[in-house]
Amino acid sequence: MICNKDRLFKLILWLIVVNKSATSTVTRRIKTINIATPGSLTVSSATGLPFIAPAIESAIQELQREYAGVFNWTWDLIYDKSITNYTDFPYSADDLVAKWYYKQRPPADLTVLLYAGGPESETINRLAAGWNTLMITSTATVPTQRNKELSPSWLTTGCCLSTNFVKPYVYLMKANNWTSLYLVVDAGTITTPTVARDVSDAIKNIKGTQHTVFTIPVGSRNEDTYDTALREFRRSSRVLFFFGHSDSLKALLIYVTLEPFRNIAMFGNLTSLVDKDEYLKRAFGSLIVVTIAQYINQPGPEATSRFAQWKSISSTEFNYTYRQTEQLSPHVASAYYTMLLLAEVLNETLEDNPDMNLLDGSALARRFFNRTVKIDSLSVYVDEAGERRTDMEIRQFNNETGDFETIIIQSGSNEKITQIRLLSWHGTGRFPSNEPVCGYAGNNPRCSQEGTWTAIMVSAVMVGIGLILATIGVGYSWRRYMAAQADFRSWWDLSDWRVSSSRTLMPCA
Ligand SMILES: *[C@@H]1O[C@H](CO)[C@@H](O)[C@H](O)[C@H]1NC(C)=O
Ligand SMILES: *[C@@H]1O[C@H](CO)[C@@H](O)[C@H](O)[C@H]1NC(C)=O
Ligand SMILES: *[C@@H]1O[C@H](CO)[C@@H](O)[C@H](O)[C@H]1NC(C)=O
Ligand SMILES: *[C@@H]1O[C@H](CO)[C@@H](O)[C@H](O)[C@H]1NC(C)=O
Ligand SMILES: *[C@@H]1O[C@H](CO)[C@@H](O)[C@H](O)[C@H]1NC(C)=O
Ligand SMILES: *[C@@H]1O[C@H](CO)[C@@H](O)[C@H](O)[C@H]1NC(C)=O
Ligand SMILES: *[C@@H]1O[C@H](CO)[C@@H](O)[C@H](O)[C@H]1NC(C)=O
Ligand SMILES: *[C@@H]1O[C@H](CO)[C@@H](O)[C@H](O)[C@H]1NC(C)=O
Repeated sequence: MICNKDRLFKLILWLIVVNKSATSTVTRRIKTINIATPGSLTVSSATGLPFIAPAIESAIQELQREYAGVFNWTWDLIYDKSITNYTDFPYSADDLVAKWYYKQRPPADLTVLLYAGGPESETINRLAAGWNTLMITSTATVPTQRNKELSPSWLTTGCCLSTNFVKPYVYLMKANNWTSLYLVVDAGTITTPTVARDVSDAIKNIKGTQHTVFTIPVGSRNEDTYDTALREFRRSSRVLFFFGHSDSLKALLIYVTLEPFRNIAMFGNLTSLVDKDEYLKRAFGSLIVVTIAQYINQPGPEATSRFAQWKSISSTEFNYTYRQTEQLSPHVASAYYTMLLLAEVLNETLEDNPDMNLLDGSALARRFFNRTVKIDSLSVYVDEAGERRTDMEIRQFNNETGDFETIIIQSGSNEKITQIRLLSWHGTGRFPSNEPVCGYAGNNPRCSQEGTWTAIMVSAVMVGIGLILATIGVGYSWRRYMAAQADFRSWWDLSDWRVSSSRTLMPCA
């Protein structure tokens, strides 16, 4: 009896061992991975193939070497030569991709739709979801991405997704008890209005808060518009969130400049404004910049060493020479990193489960969720909905160095706050409250009791220092600002409220 049992046990053990070694042999059969990149030949968008394709191509060459004997990579570029206008591309993208899928798609163990993404990603996503095919966009995202019923197989891995901005704003509001916010949105800029909409939606969900959104219409970056905004702001809040171009950065406490793009002309150049005037320096003293952490949009050494190769591929294959390699690098590097991320997670997935059905795009997409992968010395975190979350920075102007320096970093993966430097806010170490002590109109009952004058002084100080600040940008509006100074000198300085501006304001102990 005992003997039999023993033998059975041995048999079972042996079976398990055999079985295990049999599967590990299956594991390492070469898998063919087909990367399909739909796009347009336009160079009017940072998502055009002349920018993105070279990075993917160079990553594939590298992965072919690195994963030799494990993966065999193939690549299809999907585009229509006759479409040269970026505006037209989204209308034909699904048709192009469907034609390729049914008629030209090469046999492979896995097909991945991997491209930069823009307005076309919604329609391509509908196809990918229907085919249950993994889809990865390396630049853009849209709200649909987070709806896993509509987008079960969609990952988005861009360095600088606009959705990242919500969390630092919410953090600042909660940490400082700001309950009435004033949002100024410059409609004439790309991306920032989207950020403003996301932040506004988030504020709506915070109990006990209210906010007003003021939109600067396209073509109205002028003093009259700013003046209207400032007057309204003054009556309702002391904290202004600004979303727009640095040219229209005028009266604000908090400013999103989308610094990852700080060198791209269309977003303006905050740094270049610094020397213009002492006024500006003073204004910067009341300005906080919320942006993506510098080290996120700074390509790592591996990507940097490939710039020359990307530039050369773009020139030979797309007849286009990057004029501003370094300026486009965050997006280009994101495409490159996306390929490395894909390879790493695939390799690991097959190691864990050699029989994983790679054709199940939704199951495969979930392998990327909730995890951090180290790529080119950068931690790339993809959240629970398949969207990359990056660390965010809160910066303050340092008048000694003349630059905006990081004071706080908010982790993209766990929202942990790291204080890098202490806040120095007009002699205090705290952000202002969003309401003056005596109320916006100076009539709060607490100021009508004893020590009224003191209270009003305090209130005035709060207004005088709590506030705003601003700036104007370069060129046209800069000149107008200079011209306007004569009659409305420090229009952004609200210290004359209730107390004449010539009076020296002393903080009351
Ligand atoms: C990789 O796939 C291509 C296309 O299917 C094929 O021509 C090539 O021989 C494959 N290479 C390896 C190493 O399997
Ligand atoms: C692209 O198409 C849009 C709308 O169809 C048009 O307004 C624009 O002028 C076109 N751009 C070019 C460069 O042809
Ligand atoms: C915000 O309000 C809470 C509760 O009222 C208080 O404990 C906290 O100190 C306040 N924080 C600031 C920065 O005023
Ligand atoms: C932005 O301003 C800085 C400082 O003046 C300058 O070094 C840099 O070249 C400017 N960038 C652009 C794109 O103008
Ligand atoms: C390459 O681009 C240049 C200028 O953009 C153009 O003149 C030339 O015809 C193009 N060459 C080819 C082969 O398309
Ligand atoms: C793929 O995964 C295996 C097992 O974890 C690992 O040994 C190997 O280094 C990985 N390949 C590459 C190129 O990273
Ligand atoms: C990701 O994390 C969230 C919260 O920690 C959890 O609710 C969710 O189930 C996780 N999703 C996956 C796919 O692991
Ligand atoms: C910088 O700001 C501090 C405090 O506002 C002030 O005391 C100092 O003089 C300023 N330094 C320069 C170089 O402007």
